[in-house]
Amino acid sequence: MRRKLVVGNWKMHGSHKANAELLDGIIAERPFSAEVAVCVPFPYLSETAVALTNHDIAWGAQDCSAHAQGAYTGEVSAAMLAEFGCRYVIVGHSERRAYHGENDQLVADKAQAALDQHLVPVVCVGETLAEREAGQTDAVVKRQLSAVIHTLKACIWQVVVAYEPVWAIGTGRTATPEQAQAVHALLRTQLHAATTKSDEMKLLYGGSVKADNAHALFAQADIDGGLVGGASLKAAEFAAICRAAG
Ligand code: PGA
Repeated sequence: MRRKLVVGNWKMHGSHKANAELLDGIIAERPFSAEVAVCVPFPYLSETAVALTNHDIAWGAQDCSAHAQGAYTGEVSAAMLAEFGCRYVIVGHSERRAYHGENDQLVADKAQAALDQHLVPVVCVGETLAEREAGQTDAVVKRQLSAVIHTLKACIWQVVVAYEPVWAIGTGRTATPEQAQAVHALLRTQLHAATTKSDEMKLLYGGSVKADNAHALFAQADIDGGLVGGASLKAAEFAAICRAAG
């Protein structure tokens, strides 16, 4: 049985004061039977590490460079994230793909850079509304995952995959549990062809996960938890989602 995982994606939200309140609030809601992590903006990694150490909640970042080091102004390497005790790093979030032009190969290279530093990449895949309506959902997510499989090869089992339909992110419009499960099953089959450990891999659903829909989503056979944006900024709501995961 796979242990469920809930990852909060704070995106570009937070302040010293708000973070302290939020982290204290989440800590107060423990223990959780699911594994729980928060992915915070880079400048807040240090205080997050201090707040969460010894509290059984992991932390991570929302992106990393594909390069190990060098003249890449503004970028942050996976090695730097490792120095701050990160366990996870989100790569290929649709907001990075859409606003920063990240393509499938760059996302795969970032996943490799993360693995090289013993971080767990949370690799996001997902179709836009236009792609869904054109019947391209399966082809799009398979293409996105395929680039990562091709690059990571035998190490692919070490990643977490997050299916996040772009039309469900921040919109309040969640995929139905059945819609999400259908894509998760497809991704699991694709992983099965690439690794003998596909049954051990965690596949998260993301896109308007809330306390009131989390349970039904997480009850699906191939949904192993969630990647949670907006609802991860409220301690009680996030904790309720973590509890819905088991
Ligand atoms: P949302 O974001 O929960 O606010 O829809 C999810 C995500 O983008 O990771």
